[in-house]
Amino acid sequence: MKKAIVEHDVVNSQGVLFAAKGESVNQQRLEDLLSRGEISFEEYVECNPNATEAEMAKAFISYSIGKTIPFAPETIKHEVMEILEQVSDENNVAEMVGCLERRSLWSYEHSMRVAIIAAAIGKKMNFSDDELIVAAEGSIVHDVGKIFFVNLVEKHGTLTQEEYKIIKEHTKAGYRFLKGAGFKEEVANIALLHHERRNGNGYWGLSDLPRTVEAVGIADSIDAMMAARPYKNGIDINKVIGQLTEEYRINNSYDPDMLIEARKLMLLP
Ligand SMILES: [Fe+2]
Ligand SMILES: [Fe+2]
Repeated sequence: MKKAIVEHDVVNSQGVLFAAKGESVNQQRLEDLLSRGEISFEEYVECNPNATEAEMAKAFISYSIGKTIPFAPETIKHEVMEILEQVSDENNVAEMVGCLERRSLWSYEHSMRVAIIAAAIGKKMNFSDDELIVAAEGSIVHDVGKIFFVNLVEKHGTLTQEEYKIIKEHTKAGYRFLKGAGFKEEVANIALLHHERRNGNGYWGLSDLPRTVEAVGIADSIDAMMAARPYKNGIDINKVIGQLTEEYRINNSYDPDMLIEARKLMLLP
């Protein structure tokens, strides 16, 4: 069993010394603590400075699952982990992840959380294995078109109307980019359609969406609303689900069954 030698004292968020400088920590224990949210991803990295890139990626997914869908049954968390690991191992996805990570760290982390929520919703909605892979892969690359608009994505401050109009193009740019990189039509379509709504109230007024697109659309809305950004505070998950449910009730924008499943995955019953 691989062990990590801690480079300096690591104190967890409750102020408890978790590992002292020079201590040897079993990697499995680190991963368990991480997946239960007892140490943060940064603490994991500090305790495990020699982790390979693959180990770090796995640890980041496990950590994000624990944080993102805390109330999902363990079986679902396990299955989501397997789907994400499988998808992240594909060469073309790994390349896109590297691209996102380098250009916009926020977009990378957002995309991984979207993949977790969308895959978990898909599991609860009995998606086929193919649909689950499409939803997870599509989530990871859904905002890849934003690499062409990094200045606007990372802008500190609200977007002007003109800038908002420009950034909407990330959907079409992402679709073209993914098609050029050899991604399947269903996956590229998630980049193109993730801001569309079933009532036609999305970016480009399209409706009649595949359910993989709807799952990613809900996951994307949830994460985007919850996230604190330089120009806005994050919204509490209770309020986010409340607002989306209200939006469904008034405008029929989202699949109501998917909203119910998202609520169960992310909120105490
Ligand atoms: Fe987007
Ligand atoms: Fe997004």
